[in-house]
Amino acid sequence: MTNQDKIKELIDLRAQAKLGGGIKRIESQHAKGKMTARERIEKLLDDGSFEEYDMFVTHRCTNFGLEKQKFMGDGVVTGQGTIDGRIVFVFSQDFTVFGGSLSETFALKICKVMDMAMKVGAPVIGINDSGGARIQEGVTSLAGYAEIFQRNIMASGVIPQISAIFGPCAGGAVYSPALTDFILMTEENSYMFVTGPKVVKTVTGEDITVADLGGADVHSTKSGVAHFKVENEEEGILIIRKLMSYLPQNNLEEPPVTDCNDPINRLEDSLNTIIPDNPNLPYDITDVIHSLVDHGEFLEVHRNFAKNMVVGFAKMNGFPIAIIANQPSYLAGVLDIGASRKAARFVRFADAFNIPILTLVDVPGFLPGSGQEYGGIIIHGAKLLYAYGEATVPKITITLRKSYGGAHDVMSCKQLRGDLNYAWPTSEIAVMGAKGAIEVLESKAISAFTDMDEKAKFMNEKELEYREKFANPYQAASYGYIDDVIEPRNTRFRVIRGFEMLQTKKVSNPPKKHGNIPL
Ligand code: HXC
Repeated sequence: MTNQDKIKELIDLRAQAKLGGGIKRIESQHAKGKMTARERIEKLLDDGSFEEYDMFVTHRCTNFGLEKQKFMGDGVVTGQGTIDGRIVFVFSQDFTVFGGSLSETFALKICKVMDMAMKVGAPVIGINDSGGARIQEGVTSLAGYAEIFQRNIMASGVIPQISAIFGPCAGGAVYSPALTDFILMTEENSYMFVTGPKVVKTVTGEDITVADLGGADVHSTKSGVAHFKVENEEEGILIIRKLMSYLPQNNLEEPPVTDCNDPINRLEDSLNTIIPDNPNLPYDITDVIHSLVDHGEFLEVHRNFAKNMVVGFAKMNGFPIAIIANQPSYLAGVLDIGASRKAARFVRFADAFNIPILTLVDVPGFLPGSGQEYGGIIIHGAKLLYAYGEATVPKITITLRKSYGGAHDVMSCKQLRGDLNYAWPTSEIAVMGAKGAIEVLESKAISAFTDMDEKAKFMNEKELEYREKFANPYQAASYGYIDDVIEPRNTRFRVIRGFEMLQTKKVSNPPKKHGNIPL
């Protein structure tokens, strides 16, 4: 073989590897409305930036005659590339090779990119489309999963990890994405469950479809497993690229700052009138967010799960920030189990990756009831309390309207090391709402009334008296719990200036192996 023949051989081998499981299976993948593993990577990364690793790896299994069926790359495409010029590592499961099922060598390939990502401090993006453990390989496949899990755990809080689910993801395989920071699911074609519909039917007798058990709708609304539900793979890939624009490469770096031509002192007059005079009327907190942040751009995370809490990323004067906000237009913005879980996880992500936190408060309290208590609202609420109290990134809190009771403390109050706590003049910072307070304080007087009209009149007067005394920011401000009462339309400027001042903030927690967050 001449040297030229050797080069041609390499080119042929590469071409063969790029076909994965072959043209027929690629066509069948396309017929399902799915891209191939390589097409997904090409779309995700900057043009021409992908460098593939381990293209020549094949499996080593000899069970069930598998030695006669080998595909170069063995069902997963791995390597490095860039997104907006910044290095990322990727693995993309190739459904055209044994249904993207995981073998020993498949797992080793994923581990290799994860190790490299940890070595150089860069994010890992995993695209999942797999029939699970490669059945012919038996326990080596289980060991392979566990090797990946261990790396997910070690990488947690060190480098960002993002999982796209663009096909099946079932059984123990779900736990690798679950250990990562963000999960995206496509509306069609993707599903995640620990046990599939057949096992469910056998064990519990329940008849349920794949979509109802573990589709994108279920996980983005009910379980909260998926942070983003996307219409299709293209949208999913755009979201990943957008998400990356807010994240640092690793926990030792600052998030990426971009030029901003949205004036920092832009006055937003609409904010002076957004809070209705009637405290029981809602407004949409996302309107407030859009008007505060650069160019109104807000990447909402977990949009359809626990909608009484809004979380997501934005930039202010070009600096990425994390926003956590109660949503008065959904369940009055009450704190419940879902909202607490959602916000706690987001606060911890932001803190792990040096992203400053802006908290917008309008919370009437915790949702009462046996459902919440039996579900462990005590533990879940404590998660959020813990997350805020533990966070050392710059924290600015703006109270817009209600901030009552325990929920006031939980939502990044001054004593949980809030750095700057501002309130709008429309805010009501108190132990509880006027109605509840009067029912407690005046219970004897109220029960003595026989005339209903007189009772209502008495309660109205007392509520008014209470509201005038307590339903304002000035009692909290008089104790220094609120650093300043600010004009709503000037909020953008005050927040940007606050975060600029806090850039050199240094606070650390006592050394320990790790805390014991109430899980
Ligand atoms: C080996 C597999 C495979 C697997 C699919 N294939 N899953 N090969 N191991 N787990 C192969 C098929 O034989 C077929 O090969 C090709 O992939 C495409 O599969 P189809 O069934 O034709 O595709 P489709 O109809 O789209 O169905 C996809 C599927 C189904 C729903 C994923 O293939 C399926 O149910 N697979 C088995 C799922 C499973 O039980 N996995 C193990 C779970 S236990 P050809 O040659 O025809 O193209 C597990 C434990 C993990 O994962 C534990 C971690 C801790």
